[in-house]
Amino acid sequence: MNIKRIGVLTSGGDAPGMNACVRAVVRTCVYHGIEVYGIRRGWNGLIHGDVVKMDEKSVSRTINKGGTILYTARSTEFMTEEGQRKAVSTCKFLGLDSIIAIGGDGTFRGARALSKYGINVIGIPATIDNDISCTNYCIGFDTAANTAIECIDKLRDTMQSHERCSVVEVMGRNAGYLAMYVGLAVGATAVLVPEKSIDFHEDVIEKLRSARLHGFTHYMIVVAEGAGHATDIAKKIKDAVDLDPRVTVLGHIQRGGSPTGRDRVNATKMGYLAVELLLAGKTNRIVCTHEGGYIDVDIDEGLSMKKTMQEMEVDVLNAMTGI
Ligand code: F6P
Repeated sequence: MNIKRIGVLTSGGDAPGMNACVRAVVRTCVYHGIEVYGIRRGWNGLIHGDVVKMDEKSVSRTINKGGTILYTARSTEFMTEEGQRKAVSTCKFLGLDSIIAIGGDGTFRGARALSKYGINVIGIPATIDNDISCTNYCIGFDTAANTAIECIDKLRDTMQSHERCSVVEVMGRNAGYLAMYVGLAVGATAVLVPEKSIDFHEDVIEKLRSARLHGFTHYMIVVAEGAGHATDIAKKIKDAVDLDPRVTVLGHIQRGGSPTGRDRVNATKMGYLAVELLLAGKTNRIVCTHEGGYIDVDIDEGLSMKKTMQEMEVDVLNAMTGI
């Protein structure tokens, strides 16, 4: 396939490492002598022709920066056929033969729509939720997890001093991968995730009781936002056992910050591979991690897959909590 001009965009919720990924796409294009344009503000930018020519200088010193220099958006206009047609017109007018879209599954649905109009597309998974089924890893997860862990470690200091219970709400939309990982890493008393049906008495009250009986006097409950609101859980705990939990909703702080080494390196490899896939004549693919390496998966196939929480994580959690 003769690839001349590539557009790169970030879409959906931002994730630390997106800049490292854009940088890798741009540098790989420069390396191969291909023109590359940054499309700003996600799919909205493609609809409205909000593009900027990029070269090695435009991405210099961005590998360590959080957020996305290209800005991002959740475009409702692009979900319509009219919006998609406008985006295709922009591609045709500007001579963009290929688009590399960095984001979550909403981003990939957009990419798939574009590919139906003959534009080459490659998706790169980036979301702190780590909820994209076809890949083990999404850019941003490691940084977000480490941010949440650092915050909870700090919370623990004051919970321990006052012998209190903390209920911490972690992001993840409908998925509990971030909460599960963070809960295991901070040694939580209990972790609530949407993938596992919750028996409040067994999964929270009995864990608290057991921890107390083992001699602990402060408690850390981690709840994924998709499994319930921290304030409701705190109230139920108060009603049930008369503890007076403090609530912390970590919120968007989890999306910011300088990406970890893991995120930078994954983002760099995935950005490089996306360009290489286009040069190899592939389109409508998602770059994925798989068994320690990288593969590419058809977007339709990737979007139809279902991600499940590993049984082992739940087993480990059961063994580690409540004592
Ligand atoms: O998908 C990433 C994410 O941070 C989710 O964890 C969260 O539910 C959502 O985005 C928040 O979206 P917004 O930034 O639009 O409030």
